[in-house]
Amino acid sequence: MMSLIDRILSPRSSSRDGARTLRVGIAGLGTVGAAVVRMIERRSAALAAATGCTVRVTAVSARDAKRDRGIDLSGFTWFDDPVALARSEEVDCVVELVGGSEGAAKEIVEAALAVGKHVVTANKALLAHHGNALAKMAEARGVSLAYEASVAGGIPVIKAIREGLAGNAVSRVYGIMNGTCNYILSRMEAEGLTFEACLKDAQALGYAEADPTFDVEGFDTAHKLAILTSLVFGVEIDVEGVSVEGISAIQPLDLTMADELGYRIKLLGVAQATEAGIEQRVHPTMVPKATAIAQVMGVTNAVTIDADAVGELTLIGPGAGGDATASAVVADIADVAAGLVRPTFGKPVARLAAPRRVEMQRHEGGYYVRLTVHDRTGVAAGVATRMAEREISIESIVQRRSAKAASIDPHGLSRQPVPLVLITYAATEGNIRAALDAIAADGLLAEAPQLIRIERE
Ligand code: NAP
Ligand code: HSE
Repeated sequence: MMSLIDRILSPRSSSRDGARTLRVGIAGLGTVGAAVVRMIERRSAALAAATGCTVRVTAVSARDAKRDRGIDLSGFTWFDDPVALARSEEVDCVVELVGGSEGAAKEIVEAALAVGKHVVTANKALLAHHGNALAKMAEARGVSLAYEASVAGGIPVIKAIREGLAGNAVSRVYGIMNGTCNYILSRMEAEGLTFEACLKDAQALGYAEADPTFDVEGFDTAHKLAILTSLVFGVEIDVEGVSVEGISAIQPLDLTMADELGYRIKLLGVAQATEAGIEQRVHPTMVPKATAIAQVMGVTNAVTIDADAVGELTLIGPGAGGDATASAVVADIADVAAGLVRPTFGKPVARLAAPRRVEMQRHEGGYYVRLTVHDRTGVAAGVATRMAEREISIESIVQRRSAKAASIDPHGLSRQPVPLVLITYAATEGNIRAALDAIAADGLLAEAPQLIRIERE
């Protein structure tokens, strides 16, 4: 059993002249794995100087041994079976860069921890779903389970929170944690491109997950948020407690309306301590254009931590891509090489509390509501009445005639449904949903409503 405080261990292997060597086995040689191999080679002397230990890749594994990856693999032992690599006698530290919460990735990490090898991973899906059990395994063997690259790519946010903010009580952590979504939203807004075209480019640039549904439907951000929640609030990971909405339903009209109303749309992950428990939510969010987070464009991520001693701390940097992610992976490998082993989620697993969930219905904030209504006399009044019945105050209301709604009847009404956009003052999610249900039941809507939460600070 490892001690409760950080401790220094020596990497096990040493060369004949007494200099220490950390033998690294890399499972997964895709966007991130290949960049890690290159970075270890490029930074070999600097890593040795900083850690007092030579970091040497000895073994690699991927699916296709013949694929040209732009790296020379001739000096490494090739494993068709990544689990065999994880158990190999010629590896001290297993770097898992395969991805996915189940299957090969889980087997690799479990096999490595079971035989007492250090593990470095960029796999947020694995940690979000199995982090508690894997942290227990690592702790029992006194080895490291390091995962800096799993959240916000190249931003060293895990170290910043776990080590740098140990003296602070954190009340909220939030930010843009998916490079693919921020890249898509930024390009759709700036260049008027389609969602599909932007996603394709994000995939070509190596930003997206193997299954990009995880990016665009918000699950990847939820995985990352669940990890940060555990770290900042000292609770077990509870990914099922995250309320998740992605960006696939965002229409160009929403981006245009956001712009006109003084906002930008970002996919945010927010974890907040409330009296009732911890609110964890991921959803597209309207943020005022003047705020710092609204300026974060492209693949860049930003994580803000509200902490009692330092106040508001924002870390901004590249959220995805081979080199940026390799930077975080190599930082973890350097910690292992230096003999640094820390409790995975900042404290021993037995001391992590069970999180208390707060239902999304209780969330309170401003809302952007875009209704597609039949253009009839009294519709706006009917909508306003249903909102007022649930004590929802409307800050602004805009009715637009879309290009589609070109044909006008003699009374000036369109024969096509038209968008009606409302911005509300703070209201509860439960009340907003109830009002929308009532508006739909009144037969005023031609399509399902669009609801985007507003975060004003
Ligand atoms: P990727 O390009 O799809 O690479 C995955 C690698 O895993 C490939 O080399 C693949 O082999 C190998 N692989 C897949 N199944 C395997 C199996 N059963 N046995 C052995 N090897 C297997 O993925 P990536 O973008 O590098 O991402 C890797 C991990 O890093 C994921 O957990 C991802 O979420 C995380 N991450 C990625 C980024 C990013 O910007 N890309 C950023 C942060 C974190 P083949 O090459 O032979 O097909
Ligand atoms: N697919 C992820 C993203 C990779 O776009 O942010 C980084 O975790």
